[in-house]
Amino acid sequence: MQGTLEIRRLRADEQIPYNLLLLADETVEAIDRYISQSEIYILERDKHPVAVYALQALDGECIEIKNIAVAEKLQGQGIGRSLLRDATFRATRGGYQSLIIGTGDVLTRQLILYQKEGFEIFDVRRDFFIDNYPAPIYENGIQLRDMVMLKKSLR
Ligand code: ACO
Repeated sequence: MQGTLEIRRLRADEQIPYNLLLLADETVEAIDRYISQSEIYILERDKHPVAVYALQALDGECIEIKNIAVAEKLQGQGIGRSLLRDATFRATRGGYQSLIIGTGDVLTRQLILYQKEGFEIFDVRRDFFIDNYPAPIYENGIQLRDMVMLKKSLR
Protein backbone atom coordinates (compact mmCIF):
# COMPACT_ATOMS: atom_id res chain seq x y z
CA MET A 1 0.00 0.00 0.00
CA GLN A 2 1.60 3.26 -1.16
CA GLY A 3 1.61 6.70 0.44
CA THR A 4 -0.14 8.02 3.52
CA LEU A 5 -3.43 6.38 4.34
CA GLU A 6 -6.38 8.66 4.96
CA ILE A 7 -8.34 7.27 7.85
CA ARG A 8 -11.45 9.23 8.80
CA ARG A 9 -14.25 9.06 11.31
CA LEU A 10 -17.52 7.59 10.08
CA ARG A 11 -20.33 10.13 10.25
CA ALA A 12 -23.55 9.39 12.12
CA ASP A 13 -25.53 9.43 8.84
CA GLU A 14 -23.33 6.79 7.20
CA GLN A 15 -23.90 3.04 7.28
CA ILE A 16 -21.99 1.04 9.84
CA PRO A 17 -19.65 -1.31 7.87
CA TYR A 18 -20.87 -4.54 9.47
CA ASN A 19 -19.32 -6.61 6.65
CA LEU A 20 -15.87 -5.49 7.84
CA LEU A 21 -16.64 -5.52 11.57
CA LEU A 22 -17.83 -9.13 11.18
CA LEU A 23 -14.30 -10.14 10.13
CA ALA A 24 -13.18 -9.33 13.68
CA ASP A 25 -16.27 -10.29 15.67
CA GLU A 26 -18.53 -13.29 15.33
CA THR A 27 -22.05 -11.85 15.41
CA VAL A 28 -23.96 -8.62 14.77
CA GLU A 29 -25.40 -8.95 18.28
CA ALA A 30 -21.90 -8.91 19.80
CA ILE A 31 -20.96 -5.86 17.68
CA ASP A 32 -24.15 -4.05 18.67
CA ARG A 33 -23.15 -4.33 22.34
CA TYR A 34 -20.39 -1.75 21.77
CA ILE A 35 -20.74 -0.10 18.39
CA SER A 36 -23.28 2.62 19.30
CA GLN A 37 -20.97 3.81 22.12
CA SER A 38 -17.89 3.69 19.88
CA GLU A 39 -16.23 6.08 17.47
CA ILE A 40 -15.82 4.30 14.14
CA TYR A 41 -12.87 5.05 11.84
CA ILE A 42 -12.61 3.86 8.25
CA LEU A 43 -10.19 3.68 5.37
CA GLU A 44 -11.82 3.87 1.93
CA ARG A 45 -10.95 2.70 -1.56
CA ASP A 46 -13.15 3.97 -4.42
CA LYS A 47 -15.55 5.42 -1.82
CA HIS A 48 -16.09 2.05 -0.11
CA PRO A 49 -14.77 1.23 3.37
CA VAL A 50 -12.00 -1.39 3.17
CA ALA A 51 -10.73 -1.20 6.73
CA VAL A 52 -12.25 -0.19 10.06
CA TYR A 53 -11.59 0.20 13.73
CA ALA A 54 -13.86 1.13 16.61
CA LEU A 55 -12.73 3.03 19.71
CA GLN A 56 -14.67 3.07 22.97
CA ALA A 57 -13.65 5.16 25.98
CA LEU A 58 -13.82 3.07 29.17
CA ASP A 59 -13.21 6.05 31.43
CA GLY A 60 -11.27 9.33 31.26
CA GLU A 61 -7.92 7.51 31.23
CA CYS A 62 -8.41 4.40 29.17
CA ILE A 63 -9.78 3.78 25.69
CA GLU A 64 -10.26 0.42 23.96
CA ILE A 65 -10.06 -0.73 20.36
CA LYS A 66 -13.18 -2.89 20.33
CA ASN A 67 -12.86 -4.01 16.72
CA ILE A 68 -10.21 -3.77 13.99
CA ALA A 69 -10.49 -5.29 10.55
CA VAL A 70 -9.02 -5.06 7.05
CA ALA A 71 -10.83 -6.42 3.97
CA GLU A 72 -9.49 -9.90 3.26
CA LYS A 73 -7.97 -9.02 -0.12
CA LEU A 74 -5.94 -6.17 1.42
CA GLN A 75 -4.65 -7.96 4.52
CA GLY A 76 -0.91 -8.38 4.98
CA GLN A 77 -0.01 -5.04 3.36
CA GLY A 78 0.52 -2.96 6.47
CA ILE A 79 -2.98 -1.47 6.76
CA GLY A 80 -3.69 -3.09 10.14
CA ARG A 81 -0.49 -1.60 11.52
CA SER A 82 -1.50 1.84 10.15
CA LEU A 83 -4.90 1.56 11.84
CA LEU A 84 -3.22 0.76 15.18
CA ARG A 85 -0.92 3.78 14.78
CA ASP A 86 -3.89 5.99 13.89
CA ALA A 87 -5.76 4.77 17.00
CA THR A 88 -2.66 5.44 19.11
CA PHE A 89 -2.40 8.96 17.69
CA ARG A 90 -6.07 9.78 18.31
CA ALA A 91 -6.06 8.29 21.82
CA THR A 92 -2.93 10.24 22.74
CA ARG A 93 -4.38 13.45 21.32
CA GLY A 94 -7.58 12.77 23.26
CA GLY A 95 -5.57 12.83 26.49
CA TYR A 96 -5.95 9.13 27.35
CA GLN A 97 -3.18 7.39 29.27
CA SER A 98 -3.64 3.91 27.87
CA LEU A 99 -5.02 2.16 24.84
CA ILE A 100 -6.23 -1.41 25.24
CA ILE A 101 -7.20 -4.19 22.85
CA GLY A 102 -8.45 -7.73 23.38
CA THR A 103 -8.11 -10.75 21.16
CA GLY A 104 -8.70 -14.48 21.17
CA ASP A 105 -6.14 -16.67 22.89
CA VAL A 106 -5.40 -18.67 19.71
CA LEU A 107 -5.11 -15.70 17.32
CA THR A 108 -1.33 -15.72 17.06
CA ARG A 109 -1.06 -13.34 14.12
CA GLN A 110 -3.07 -10.65 15.89
CA LEU A 111 -1.14 -11.16 19.15
CA ILE A 112 2.16 -10.74 17.29
CA LEU A 113 0.99 -7.60 15.49
CA TYR A 114 -0.25 -5.94 18.69
CA GLN A 115 2.98 -6.70 20.56
CA LYS A 116 5.07 -5.39 17.64
CA GLU A 117 3.05 -2.16 17.96
CA GLY A 118 3.92 -1.75 21.63
CA PHE A 119 0.98 -3.46 23.37
CA GLU A 120 1.72 -5.72 26.36
CA ILE A 121 -0.48 -8.47 27.79
CA PHE A 122 -1.95 -7.41 31.15
CA ASP A 123 -4.95 -9.68 31.67
CA VAL A 124 -6.68 -12.81 30.44
CA ARG A 125 -10.48 -12.92 30.58
CA ARG A 126 -11.14 -16.59 31.20
CA ASP A 127 -13.95 -18.21 29.16
CA PHE A 128 -14.90 -14.89 27.54
CA PHE A 129 -15.73 -16.48 24.17
CA ILE A 130 -17.68 -19.30 25.82
CA ASP A 131 -19.74 -17.03 28.07
CA ASN A 132 -20.48 -14.26 25.54
CA TYR A 133 -21.30 -16.08 22.29
CA PRO A 134 -24.17 -18.48 21.54
CA ALA A 135 -22.06 -21.12 19.76
CA PRO A 136 -18.45 -22.32 20.04
CA ILE A 137 -15.99 -20.37 17.86
CA TYR A 138 -13.14 -22.24 16.19
CA GLU A 139 -9.97 -20.73 14.73
CA ASN A 140 -7.55 -23.04 12.94
CA GLY A 141 -9.39 -25.98 14.49
CA ILE A 142 -8.90 -24.75 18.06
CA GLN A 143 -11.83 -23.53 20.16
CA LEU A 144 -11.56 -19.91 21.29
CA ARG A 145 -11.96 -19.71 25.06
CA ASP A 146 -10.12 -16.83 26.67
CA MET A 147 -9.71 -13.18 25.67
CA VAL A 148 -6.15 -11.89 25.97
CA MET A 149 -6.09 -8.21 26.96
CA LEU A 150 -3.18 -6.01 25.86
CA LYS A 151 -2.36 -2.47 26.87
CA LYS A 152 -0.22 0.29 25.39
CA SER A 153 0.89 3.11 27.64
CA LEU A 154 0.50 6.50 25.94
CA ARG A 155 2.55 8.51 28.41
N1 ACO B 1 0.71 -14.36 8.36
C1 ACO B 1 1.19 -14.12 9.60
N2 ACO B 1 1.34 -12.90 10.14
C2 ACO B 1 0.97 -11.87 9.38
C3 ACO B 1 0.46 -12.02 8.09
C4 ACO B 1 0.34 -13.33 7.57
N3 ACO B 1 -0.16 -13.58 6.34
N4 ACO B 1 0.15 -10.80 7.62
C5 ACO B 1 0.47 -9.92 8.59
N5 ACO B 1 0.97 -10.56 9.65
C6 ACO B 1 1.42 -9.99 10.92
C7 ACO B 1 2.88 -9.75 10.87
O1 ACO B 1 3.36 -9.78 12.19
C8 ACO B 1 2.92 -8.34 10.32
O2 ACO B 1 4.09 -7.70 10.67
P1 ACO B 1 5.31 -7.62 9.60
O3 ACO B 1 4.78 -6.81 8.46
O4 ACO B 1 6.39 -6.94 10.40
O5 ACO B 1 5.61 -9.04 9.21
C9 ACO B 1 1.80 -7.69 11.06
O6 ACO B 1 0.80 -8.72 11.15
C10 ACO B 1 1.24 -6.42 10.39
O7 ACO B 1 0.48 -6.80 9.34
P2 ACO B 1 -0.53 -5.83 8.60
O8 ACO B 1 -0.35 -6.06 7.13
O9 ACO B 1 -0.44 -4.43 9.10
O10 ACO B 1 -1.92 -6.46 9.10
P3 ACO B 1 -3.29 -6.45 8.31
O11 ACO B 1 -3.42 -5.27 7.42
O12 ACO B 1 -3.54 -7.77 7.73
O13 ACO B 1 -4.30 -6.21 9.54
C11 ACO B 1 -5.72 -7.52 10.96
C12 ACO B 1 -4.27 -7.09 10.65
C13 ACO B 1 -6.54 -6.29 11.34
C14 ACO B 1 -5.66 -8.48 12.14
C15 ACO B 1 -6.32 -8.18 9.69
O14 ACO B 1 -5.54 -9.27 9.31
C16 ACO B 1 -7.76 -8.62 9.84
O15 ACO B 1 -8.68 -7.86 9.53
N6 ACO B 1 -7.99 -9.88 10.28
C17 ACO B 1 -9.35 -10.40 10.44
C18 ACO B 1 -10.08 -9.71 11.57
C19 ACO B 1 -9.37 -9.82 12.91
O16 ACO B 1 -8.92 -10.88 13.30
N7 ACO B 1 -9.33 -8.68 13.63
C20 ACO B 1 -8.73 -8.59 14.96
C21 ACO B 1 -9.64 -9.20 16.00
S1 ACO B 1 -9.33 -8.55 17.61
C22 ACO B 1 -10.22 -7.07 17.67
O17 ACO B 1 -10.91 -6.76 16.76
C23 ACO B 1 -10.15 -6.22 18.89
